[in-house]
Amino acid sequence: MSQVQSTNPLKIAVAKGRVAKQTMKALCKAGYTLPDDPGRSLRIMDEDKTIDMLFVKSADVPTYVELGVVDIGIVGKDVIDEKTYQIYELMDLQIGKCDLCLAAYEEFDYNKISFLKIASKYPVQSYAFLESKGIQGQVIPLEGSVELGPIVGLSDCIIDIVETGRTLEENNLKVIESIKPISSRLIANKIRYKTNTDLILEFMNTLKLQLSLEV
Ligand code: PRP
Repeated sequence: MSQVQSTNPLKIAVAKGRVAKQTMKALCKAGYTLPDDPGRSLRIMDEDKTIDMLFVKSADVPTYVELGVVDIGIVGKDVIDEKTYQIYELMDLQIGKCDLCLAAYEEFDYNKISFLKIASKYPVQSYAFLESKGIQGQVIPLEGSVELGPIVGLSDCIIDIVETGRTLEENNLKVIESIKPISSRLIANKIRYKTNTDLILEFMNTLKLQLSLEV
């Protein structure tokens, strides 16, 4: 697949789940020969051994990239914005689209609350929301199933990503405010970007073409 001659495959960390599925679909369309379904495999290579993919938990993707375990990574902007990483953010891939939202029961109005309790997997962005609104509050950090927060009275509301809205709907919650749009980004290790520029740029161009991106 690769036009650039290299004995080393390009190493990529991809967030497991929806982002990995969409990435693999785009790569297959671009001509890489990959298994239809990697199953439980955490590491796969294409048939030509030009790309070496690791499937990791989304929050770990920037760490793999920052530490140079991989050259590049594909992960949501929600994850990147939660910490400060020494990485390059190369491109918005326009996949894995969703919104970071404040959600609660329908009648909820945060303007009527003097101290807002928010359950979230995104404490940094939740505190930024409180600050931007000038509201006093506390973020209760959770690793998942944050929708339970208002249901069990742990929090007044949640800040979480909403894609189809199905999780909120099935738990009788509504989007009260959309905070920002989220999509998957291509990120790179700063040193690898310099030493492996040709391979990384070629991969970027392949994805751009496949995903019909303007950037
Ligand atoms: C995310 C998010 C919501 C759900 C929203 O969780 O935290 O729970 O997806 O998607 P929807 O709007 O399409 O229903 P995820 O599935 O990534 O699992 P997690 O809670 O384990 O992070």
